[in-house]
This record gives sequence, C-alpha cells and structure tokens, in this order.
Amino acid sequence: MLNMADALHKHPEPSNEELQKKIAELEELNRTKNSLLSFAAHQMKAPLGIVKGYATLFREGQYGEVSEKQTEVLRKIEFTADELVDLLANVIDLKKIEEGKMEYEFSKTDLVGLAKDAVDGIKLLAENKKLELALSAPTKNIFVQADPRELKHVIQNLLDNAIKYTPSGFIRVEVKDAGGEAVFSVTDSGMGMSADAKPFLFNEFVRGNQAGGEIKGSGIGLHIAKSIVNAHGGKIWAESDGEGKGSTFFFSLKKA
Ligand SMILES: Nc1ncnc2c1ncn2[C@@H]1O[C@H](COP(=O)(O)OP(=O)(O)OP(=O)(O)O)[C@@H](O)[C@H]1O
Ligand SMILES: [Mg+2]
Repeated sequence: MLNMADALHKHPEPSNEELQKKIAELEELNRTKNSLLSFAAHQMKAPLGIVKGYATLFREGQYGEVSEKQTEVLRKIEFTADELVDLLANVIDLKKIEEGKMEYEFSKTDLVGLAKDAVDGIKLLAENKKLELALSAPTKNIFVQADPRELKHVIQNLLDNAIKYTPSGFIRVEVKDAGGEAVFSVTDSGMGMSADAKPFLFNEFVRGNQAGGEIKGSGIGLHIAKSIVNAHGGKIWAESDGEGKGSTFFFSLKKA
C-alpha cells in the first residue's frame, strides 16, 4: 500500500500554471453542466405542465366521475408536478445567479395581489396536508418596485417551505403596510429551527436539522429567494422560537 509520502513523491505538485489550466478547464466544465441542466429544466417545464393539466381536468370530472380514491391519487400527481416545476424554476434561476446573469424587469407591482395568487396556488397542497391556510392583507394594494415574476418566485419558495416543514397546524400569510415599507411574512406551526441553524439557512446548499430525514430538498430555495430580494434592495430573514415551535419568514421592500 502506498503511504502519503510515496504518493506525493509519485505525483509531484503541479505547477502554478498547470493548476490555473486545470481550474479553467473545470470552470468551463461547470458552465457546460449548468447550461445543460438549465436547458433540460426549460424543456421539462412544458410537458410537466401538460401532465398536471390533465390530472386537474381528470380530478375535476371532465372525463367522467372520479372516486374518492382516484381524486386522492390525482391530487398526488398534481402535487408532485408542482414540486417538480418549482425545482426546475430554481435550477434555472440558480444558473443565472451563479453567472451573474439574472435579469430583472422592474415595474410597479402590487404585493397584495402577488400574495393572493401565491396563496391560491398552494390551497390544494395545504388541503392535502390538512393545514389551515390564511391570508391577512389590507383591502387596498401595496405597491413595490419589483420584477413580479421573480418576486412571485420568492413567495413561492417561502410558501413551499412552510408547507413542506409543517406536519400539522397552520400557515398564515401576511402582507403589511409598515410606513415606507411593505412587509411580507409567512408563519407556520411547523418544525421551526434552532438559533444556531438560522443564520445559515439562506446559504447555498444548506439544509437544516431535518436534512437526511424523509423531507426532500436541495437547499437552494432560500438562497435564491435571498439573491432576488437583495437585488430588489430589500431584506429577508427568519424568526423561530426553536425546533418544533414553528417559524416565520419575512421579507421587506421599500414601497413604490
Ligand atoms: N418554514 C420552515 N420551517 C422550518 N425549517 C425551514 C423552513 N423553511 C426552510 N427551513 C430550513 O431551511 C433549509 C433551507 O431551505 P431551502 O428552501 O433553501 O432548501 P430546501 O427546502 O431544503 O430545498 P429546496 O432547494 O428544494 O427548497 C431547509 O432545509 C430547512 O431546514
Ligand atoms: Mg425549500
């Protein structure tokens, strides 16, 4: 068996130049990998939309009566298709963020409307898990300067997590007019987090205590949400009283 000294002797240290070349090669490979991944993600979105669309039509009785058991299975198909669509959206964003190529189209955007749409979008998921879902927002609009598509993506990632990390209880979404700022928050009665874990959750590929458990995830949702909120000049943060005690995720943006 080769010991460390022998191994080092047999493979003399590469020169600086060789190292630079290797790094450049690896960077190029990484770019190619990201491009392929992002291309595949783009290509998969449309067919997935079709799978989900048919499942919804089926469940709604467009092709004849459906039993309770069939409804349950169809909901699972819709749920899984939604999860995949979110994952693909994250893969596409991650590549753009890594390459500094995220492009924003800012316009005067109503945060209340965005929150309502997003909450509507997860109704089915909440029902499936028997979670109480509520939205509290003023009746009038709250405008912020934002890219609505990307901001919706932030909200989706936060709601997604609330659903995923809440085994039972509630999810409460709130939009508040706080003077010069608009504050969005989502509070859940779920798994919460320790004070130690909290500062790291927004880092790329970081997952909390339940990682390795049965809740699947890649640890990129909050990282993407943070990049997007930062690009909007806003703040994003989490609060929790500890593990098992639920949590609230916030972001705030200057009002337009
Ligand atoms: N509502 C929440 N309650 C408890 N823990 C949460 C909540 N939201 C996020 N976390 C913790 O933060 C970690 C990072 O979240 P993030 O959304 O970035 O990744 P993920 O959910 O693991 O995977 P994905 O990239 O698929 O979203 C999670 O793994 C989880 O530990
Ligand atoms: Mg997530």
